[in-house]
Amino acid sequence: MTTSMVTFFTTLLVILMSFQTESLQHPMPSPYYSGSVKAGYWPSGNSLSPSSIDTRYFTHIYYAFVEPEPNTFNLIITSSDQNYIPQFINGLSSRNPPVKTILSIGGGSSNATLFSLMASTVKNRAAFINSTIQVARQYGFDGLDLDWEFPQNEQDMANLALLFKEWHQAVVLEAKVHRRPRLLLTAAVYYAHTIVLIGPSRRSYPAQAIKDYLDWASPMCFDYHGAWSNFTGYNNALFDPKSNISTQFGLGSWIQSGVPPSKLVFGLPLYGRAWKLQDPKVHGDGAPAVGAADGTDGTMNYNDILEFNKKNKATVVFDRSAVSYYTYAGTTWMSYDDAPSMTRKVQYAKSLGLKGYFFWQVGGDRSWTMSRQASSSWGH
Ligand SMILES: *[C@@H]1O[C@H](CO)[C@@H](O)[C@H](O)[C@H]1NC(C)=O
Ligand SMILES: *[C@@H]1O[C@H](CO)[C@@H](O)[C@H](O)[C@H]1NC(C)=O
Ligand SMILES: *[C@@H]1O[C@H](CO)[C@@H](O)[C@H](O)[C@H]1NC(C)=O
Ligand SMILES: *[C@@H]1O[C@H](CO)[C@@H](O)[C@H](O)[C@H]1NC(C)=O
Repeated sequence: MTTSMVTFFTTLLVILMSFQTESLQHPMPSPYYSGSVKAGYWPSGNSLSPSSIDTRYFTHIYYAFVEPEPNTFNLIITSSDQNYIPQFINGLSSRNPPVKTILSIGGGSSNATLFSLMASTVKNRAAFINSTIQVARQYGFDGLDLDWEFPQNEQDMANLALLFKEWHQAVVLEAKVHRRPRLLLTAAVYYAHTIVLIGPSRRSYPAQAIKDYLDWASPMCFDYHGAWSNFTGYNNALFDPKSNISTQFGLGSWIQSGVPPSKLVFGLPLYGRAWKLQDPKVHGDGAPAVGAADGTDGTMNYNDILEFNKKNKATVVFDRSAVSYYTYAGTTWMSYDDAPSMTRKVQYAKSLGLKGYFFWQVGGDRSWTMSRQASSSWGH
């Protein structure tokens, strides 16, 4: 045999062996859900009832949110959840076209320290995991979603990797034992792979564990600027030549980290960010402001922004370089997406090879305008 033949056969052997290890590590076909993802969160109790969600524009709807109990780390199903979850499942699970339901755990107002404790020991993680599977099966969800906002340090990130691994093993095993489709496993994450702007220290998500154990991760590509800062800014600029606070940077950092684009589902807000201008005559991007717009908590749903524009004869400006809109009338200034800017973002994400997009939250739309537009811009 020539040297090149030896090299060839050695290479072949290595390739064959790697296939075998691969199939041992991943007994379930992967990815479990192979199509595009067009998702939306439904905050429990939202005035939009789950049964009126137009499933032509969605593949997955998340129930938001439930939280773990601080001592047992079992999920708390409150009496209002006991009311809303069956409405949610019954309203969505038998629809045509079909849509999958996912139980989301955590959320923006949940306790980050509690998640840190839950993830910190194998015992706590097991109790949490066990409870999530039990609740998902009891109510008929198709999957589970973790929305921990946010891991605070590198230790939390290392524990998050262990959680994803053990959770994945548990759902694979549970599916095998009960001979039923595996529960989906997803997580909402920071817009960029490394968290820099909030909390005490820089810390990066475990890209390898996300790649190996989640069906997808969902970067929350919004909340880039808000009334916590005394300057107006875009909620979700696609581009920002002056900083890293943009969807282009965020998604790029995720892909660079090693998470394949086919495991990323990026977030689109169906709400804008609202400030009170310091001086109504100074009304550009970056204008001085004095907190949240009067009568708001610093946000307004897309639907209500359109109403505001009409009622106040507001001035609407499209910023081509950021790919975002803003509107102002009197002392109120708001940045938001309308159909054309959202379409550009959807097309941008699709061109990167992403798996799909999600909305926070489905009740913010106006007669499904944005949902329909996003769905048709994405295609199949
Ligand atoms: C968050 O959870 C931790 C751990 O259970 C607890 O010590 C702390 O009081 C909680 N914080 C709030 C605001 O509930
Ligand atoms: C998992 O949950 C089931 C049902 O609630 C319970 O019977 C079982 O003891 C739990 N196992 C662990 C390891 O917590
Ligand atoms: C943007 O991120 C890159 C890569 O992490 C970093 O090198 C650069 O300093 C950042 N720029 C700004 C303005 O923060
Ligand atoms: C924003 O402006 C308000 C009112 O002028 C002031 O009280 C507050 O300290 C400012 N916040 C920041 C972060 O500068």
